Amino acid sequence: MTSKIVHIKTFGCQMNKLDSALVTASLEKAGFRLTDTVKEADAVLINTCSVREHAEQRVLSHLGHLKHIKKQKPNVVVAVIGCMAQRLGPELLDDNTVDIVCGPAQIPQIPQIVTSALNEKHKLLSIKDSIRQKPDDQENLALDEFESTFDRAEQNLPGQAFVRVMRGCDSFCAYCVVPYVRGPEVSRPPAAIIDQVKRLADEGVKQVTLLGQAVNKYKYAAGQKSSCLADLLYLASEVDGIDWIKFVTNYPSEQFYDEILKAMADLPKVCPYLHIPAQSGSDKILRAMNRHYTAAQYLEMLDKARSIVPGIALSGDFIVGYPGETEEDFHVTVDLVKKARYKNAFIFKYSPRPGTKADKNLTDTVPHQIKRKRNTELLAVQEKISAELAQTFLGQTVKVLVEGLSKKPHLNSAEGRDNPQLVGRTATDWIVVFNGPPSLAGRFVNAKITKTAPLTLFADPAP
Ligand code: 5AD
Ligand code: SF4
Repeated sequence: MTSKIVHIKTFGCQMNKLDSALVTASLEKAGFRLTDTVKEADAVLINTCSVREHAEQRVLSHLGHLKHIKKQKPNVVVAVIGCMAQRLGPELLDDNTVDIVCGPAQIPQIPQIVTSALNEKHKLLSIKDSIRQKPDDQENLALDEFESTFDRAEQNLPGQAFVRVMRGCDSFCAYCVVPYVRGPEVSRPPAAIIDQVKRLADEGVKQVTLLGQAVNKYKYAAGQKSSCLADLLYLASEVDGIDWIKFVTNYPSEQFYDEILKAMADLPKVCPYLHIPAQSGSDKILRAMNRHYTAAQYLEMLDKARSIVPGIALSGDFIVGYPGETEEDFHVTVDLVKKARYKNAFIFKYSPRPGTKADKNLTDTVPHQIKRKRNTELLAVQEKISAELAQTFLGQTVKVLVEGLSKKPHLNSAEGRDNPQLVGRTATDWIVVFNGPPSLAGRFVNAKITKTAPLTLFADPAP
């Protein structure tokens, strides 16, 4: 039999990208061939995101596009996987275009499910009935094995890999759908994680990013011994071949915080970069969001990070237009952003998510235009800070891990140069673009900063 062809499209965060990479590798192992062209595929997989309504709408419009393709090719199998699959389940399967619906906890089954749907046309639903029930040892083992086997260097950016250290989330921020689609927090055993890091290093990976929804809460207990994220950082630092270790994302909490910062300060391989979302600068809104800190405590945590790890780069996330957010609440958020002096911040307009506490208990009171206005205003405040911080790099030589060809070559015209424009990142997560041969992808280079923009440093290769 000739091998079946599969196309996979991914929406959403780094967790989803990692899931897609694992699924891709598992499908290849099962004999499937991957394609970038939807029209060529026998099976089309969509890995979906539920974090905001907009993300779900994009998936639905993509399904509309697949509906047309299915008219010409009725035998093509369409699978919706990931967070939206878990959230909507049977409702998605009712759509004529959709053949398979498979949640994040079921991804190890995908090769088998897709094969069976291709062999014999039928609809298939594989989601968890009670998603908040703690998975048993067998389920954890299956998922762990899936991660360990299929996390491959070649699925990622050259020289980089993502390693999940925990699944799920128990934080229950009132606005967030993640705990309801990814289930309870489960930390993976340190030995499995470090073995995986070693294997990736053997495959040529130089930078690993440890992933968790609140990665700083990582805690694994076995017998008398309990490990936290700092322990993982020490262990991962000992792996030969790994030069840079990053981790995302952090929940502002004092638990393990000093240990993590100390590990960052002690260990040259651990990059001085912390993504630590504040979400709001108003204590009233933070309380309504079920975030367990005040703005003052949060800023103290940033001060501590800067004093323990000099030169640390910080970044954050914010939600504007949360129910009940007044002009005054928004202004204290602006103040917090000014004080925090992030390298960059991601700003989102509140989007009510069905099933969350915020959606059940609060009315989405802030009009869309106001959300948009606050979003633009906060972004402008942050851009000014980013621009100021970027300028401090002028004339400096920085070490960059090259990702590959720049997707926005127009930013710094490559015309008249021998080499195309490449993009990479510093240890502090600054984006650097410079002209160089594409063969540098996955390698470390030195680059001298000649020009800056709020989020980008432009450079010339340096010795
Ligand atoms: N509406 C808007 N933004 C949200 N986020 C999470 N849930 C929502 C929501 N319902 C944002 C948070 C989080 C980031 C990944 O997405 O800022 O840190
Ligand atoms: Fe969502 Fe809060 Fe968990 Fe992050 S920590 S995934 S915002 S519930």
